[in-house]
Amino acid sequence: MHARYGGVVPELASRQHVEAMVPVLDQALDRAGCTLADIDAVAVTTGPGLAGALLVGANAAKAIAYARGLPLVAVNHLEGHLYAAWLADALSGEDAPAPRLPALCLIVSGGHTDLVLMTGHGRYRRLGETADDAAGEAFDKVARMIGLGFPGGPAIEELAGDTASALRLPRARLKRPYDFSFSGLKTKVLRLVRGEEGPVPAPPEIAAAFQEAVVDALVTKTLAAARDQAAAEVILVGGVAANSALRRSLTGRSPLPVRIPRPDLCTDNGAMIAACGWWRIQAGEAAALDVDVQPGLRIG
Ligand code: KG4
Ligand code: ZN
Repeated sequence: MHARYGGVVPELASRQHVEAMVPVLDQALDRAGCTLADIDAVAVTTGPGLAGALLVGANAAKAIAYARGLPLVAVNHLEGHLYAAWLADALSGEDAPAPRLPALCLIVSGGHTDLVLMTGHGRYRRLGETADDAAGEAFDKVARMIGLGFPGGPAIEELAGDTASALRLPRARLKRPYDFSFSGLKTKVLRLVRGEEGPVPAPPEIAAAFQEAVVDALVTKTLAAARDQAAAEVILVGGVAANSALRRSLTGRSPLPVRIPRPDLCTDNGAMIAACGWWRIQAGEAAALDVDVQPGLRIG
């Protein structure tokens, strides 16, 4: 549905949430081979995100928790992304390895580009963020400029393929060393596509050069922050972390151990929210049933 409109339309997203809620719950329980009677706690995203969509999820979670007498845990969506880092091991039946702390975390999604130092469960310090577009948002916008569909990230990755582009796009320079900016890059691509910089390069060339510029900015700043903060490991999460060029570059360039979730656990999913909720419950932190949604919630 979002592909048809080239992005997420808030009203449509909320309505879709209402329609999908019960079928998705049924499907998830079915796939896990259990019923609501087997559930021990309910974890739900309360922010950040679109208020309408968050409300639908929060109300469904409250209803289940109330009806079943279960603890409710409110999870920050960004923190949920982080907990995907330890999820695959847990799902494969092995013990989830404990985080090596402090961990330098890059959270890159459609709405956020945050560099965060994790010093403990629930303990974060935000070191940097984007001054304008989020990394995923830049992928989506540039994809649209070169005629690709939504979401743009996977489309750009596929079009770029193995193209070794001779094009070199600008890297932003910012006063704060750990902040990001992608709007200059986006404008540059627009000028290229409009032929304002000479003959228009082939779309795979543009896709590859754009991807390379974003990956370079993300990896360079993440590694600089990891070094400056004497981090024990580097964690890459969020939808953009599914990008194989980014995964390869960070892993190849990092002198520290790097932890990246499986690609299907990088893009939004419920398992990561449950994983974060599990840690909260272990720590004895449940939410009250009147917990509110926080569309502008941040991390660190
Ligand atoms: O975390 P996420 O699934 O949703 C949000 O919380 O925003 O991230 C979605 C973003 C979209 O902008 C999408 O284009 C981007 O992640 N994305 C990718 C890839 N897969 C998803 N960006 C680059 N390469 C990918 N393979
Ligand atoms: Zn997300």
